[in-house]
Amino acid sequence: MLLTTKEIFKKCYGKYGIPAVNVFYMEEVHGLFEAAQKANAPFIVQTTPFARDYAHPKMLIAMIEAAAKIYPKVVYAVHVDHGVEEHIYDAIDSGSYTSVMIDASHDDFDTNVARTKAVVDRAHAKGISVEAELGVLAGIEDDIVIEAGKSSYTNPKDVERFVHATDCDCLAIAVGTSHGAYKFKGKQGIQFHILEEIQQRLPEFPLVLHGGSSVNPEEIRRINNAGGALKDDAQGVAMAEIQKAISLGVCKINIATDTRLLWTRVVREFFRDTPEQFAPTTPGKVLMEEYVKFMLNKFDDFGTTGKGIDFGIS
Ligand code: 13P
Repeated sequence: MLLTTKEIFKKCYGKYGIPAVNVFYMEEVHGLFEAAQKANAPFIVQTTPFARDYAHPKMLIAMIEAAAKIYPKVVYAVHVDHGVEEHIYDAIDSGSYTSVMIDASHDDFDTNVARTKAVVDRAHAKGISVEAELGVLAGIEDDIVIEAGKSSYTNPKDVERFVHATDCDCLAIAVGTSHGAYKFKGKQGIQFHILEEIQQRLPEFPLVLHGGSSVNPEEIRRINNAGGALKDDAQGVAMAEIQKAISLGVCKINIATDTRLLWTRVVREFFRDTPEQFAPTTPGKVLMEEYVKFMLNKFDDFGTTGKGIDFGIS
């Protein structure tokens, strides 16, 4: 069942979180849909500008639409992550997306409002939801690098004015997380005093957490044991913090780094352990199985398992 993010967030607000997972290649699309059907868990599949450049927009959508046929009992939205206008309008016109993100968070407040509002007008005319962003996250995502010094937390005092002026359907906020595998120095974590104030100012309004990967230390250890060179200070968001954020209005949790680490671990271990092999389908099969396990755990952790029932799927 293909829905807008707005429709999904109406049901999950304050109760459970929706994983929003970036996809680049066929094995992850299979793994994501298969896990969601097994768990009867709603999810968001999302594509980035980088994925478009890598795979081609038509290939990405063809994979997602094929998966929806192979796994028909799933509740999901198809979303553009970190879009710019050119990609967003292309996605809106394609008829295949139900949600888009306009990331004008690097612009000043008024420019962010103007760019977001223009996208909202075009998207809402076709019944498509819009995610906007206020505040700037640090970190590395695809080919975009934002240094910590250029990041800034969302100012809670701005959020009502921004949402009112843009009419966006959900808001990505900067509350301490960052993109990539090196999120925190020491025990810093999510800035809950900011998140709480945002929720008080925007009650019942869906919030989005970018930089939602957990960066499992065991995954880092296995990658490094198999020849990787990830640094010791790799660190993600603690699951208890994500769960608390969900109770404070975070409906959508973006994940990309964790699934890259999964790919790296599977592929590295495969070639370390079976150097005589050269068929891509053999590690590909392991990858799909591991991806399913990974997503089943995320659905459990986010409280999403079985929640297809909220949309009439049992
Ligand atoms: P991670 O780097 O934590 O996976 O975050 C991904 C993300 O926010 C995509 O928009």
